[in-house]
Amino acid sequence: MALRDIVTDPNPTLRKKCREVEIFDEKLGRLLDDMGETMNAADGVGLAAPQVGILRRIAVVEVDDFYIEFVNPVIVKKKGEQDGPEGCLSIPGKSMDVKRPNKVTVEYQDRYGKHMSVTAEGFIARAFCHEIDHLDGILYYDRAKEGR
Ligand code: CO
Repeated sequence: MALRDIVTDPNPTLRKKCREVEIFDEKLGRLLDDMGETMNAADGVGLAAPQVGILRRIAVVEVDDFYIEFVNPVIVKKKGEQDGPEGCLSIPGKSMDVKRPNKVTVEYQDRYGKHMSVTAEGFIARAFCHEIDHLDGILYYDRAKEGR
């Protein structure tokens, strides 16, 4: 495993739409391992592939004991609303209040290509929304109530 460099705003890589993963190989596994390690080292709760310069639909989320690897994630259900502060490893030292659904269901694939589904609420749901937004080039302040 190795730490990857985190791309910071306004690097244009963060604004690109990522492509789907089609090949589930060792290289993907290594990338996911590296992303997990990089997220931990940076003390983050989530990291998306474009943040390490890779324009593929891949993200990891870790909140307390909950850890998940998303490949080709899609939010298929949203419920309710929550409002709270959000930060991003690509925008160091800043945070902003962002409205998000309170509960989401995400369909995704694991590192082996197996189709999976997960439902979460509260802070984990917020992290899912934030990371999946990254895959479409969206940063949290785009969704914040006040502009930047
Ligand atoms: Co982020």
